[in-house]
Amino acid sequence: MWNSTKITQLLGIEYPILQGPMGVGFSTPELLATVSNAGGLGSFGAYTLTPEEILETDKAIKLATSKPYNINLWVNDVDKSLINYSPEKLEKIKLLFKPYFDELGIPLPELSTDIPSKFEKQVEVLFEVKPAVFSFIFGIPSKEILAESRRLGIKTVGAATTLDEALALEEAQVDAIVASGFEAGGHRASFLKPAQDSFTGLFTLIQQIKAKTKTPIIAAGGITDAKGIGAAMILGAEAVQIGTAFMVTNESGATPTHKQMIFSDASNTTTISKSLTGRMGRMVSNKISDAVPFETEVLPFPLQTRLIAPLKVAALAQGRTDMISFWSGQNNANLKHHSAAELMQELILETGKLIR
Ligand SMILES: Cc1cc2nc3c(=O)[nH]c(=O)nc-3n(C[C@H](O)[C@H](O)[C@H](O)COP(=O)(O)O)c2cc1C
Repeated sequence: MWNSTKITQLLGIEYPILQGPMGVGFSTPELLATVSNAGGLGSFGAYTLTPEEILETDKAIKLATSKPYNINLWVNDVDKSLINYSPEKLEKIKLLFKPYFDELGIPLPELSTDIPSKFEKQVEVLFEVKPAVFSFIFGIPSKEILAESRRLGIKTVGAATTLDEALALEEAQVDAIVASGFEAGGHRASFLKPAQDSFTGLFTLIQQIKAKTKTPIIAAGGITDAKGIGAAMILGAEAVQIGTAFMVTNESGATPTHKQMIFSDASNTTTISKSLTGRMGRMVSNKISDAVPFETEVLPFPLQTRLIAPLKVAALAQGRTDMISFWSGQNNANLKHHSAAELMQELILETGKLIR
């Protein structure tokens, strides 16, 4: 049977279909539960949440499903360059973005560079709530954290954007590796080399990782339908992780404007830019990502995110969709489902017809 793989056995799920975790309000307990209850693995992107918020969210998740699910964190959630960041540089970079604030008639925000990492405290709560799966990006947790996950029976899943990152994850003995292709929506979570030097497409990445590692592979990036699932599995993936196709469903926390944008032809042109958050991420091309070339220095992550946050609110309120970072994968050609339950149903049925 196509759906019995190393990943379904490892995670105790029925179908090798994972809903990609999505941070900052895109994940919802409802979306997670819809996917887990349909036999896949629902995920919650929790990297911006306080430990208390993770506890609350987990209560809502446990009310909605008794099936396995995944909580996702960012190992490196604050750029090191933020330490002792020069106030002069901060003001200089802020001014680069002033024309956009002027255009929307709002002031530049006051920003503090005192942004502590949340990761360690988030992990403590994660060990309390014990999801079946702990997935992470932007690095590898410490040996102690991985050992404790193992002791608690929580499966660990790390993301690789290159073969070298996959080798490092295997060395750390994670349970599974997400091969995150260049096509994927959201941030490009490279951790060994800069993201701009880690642009491997999914077809290549699966095969490179498959040839050199034994850890089961979960393919992510540009997969939206049964053909994509079939292709990834034929190349050696034991499961797929789908982000954008779930982000546009009613169950996700994305704004209606964002969902409309992804269903429109505008989403055929995506780009990877650090101009909106400080780290490289794939989004629908917009006025700011077009105007700020990669070489332009922006604020470190997440300070740049905080600079742009009020601009995003004002742009949404004023209908200025040209100034908003609409996260998106590269392949939106065949997106059609507005219901996560229906999307799951079709993926399961159609993949079953394609591969047996
Ligand atoms: C809006 C958005 C936010 C995301 N946030 C996260 C995140 O916090 N953690 C993570 O591991 N992956 C994150 N991702 C990546 C997805 O989990 C998934 O791997 C990716 O979307 C797959 O590519 P696709 O969008 O082409 O399907 C995000 C993706 C999107 C679209």
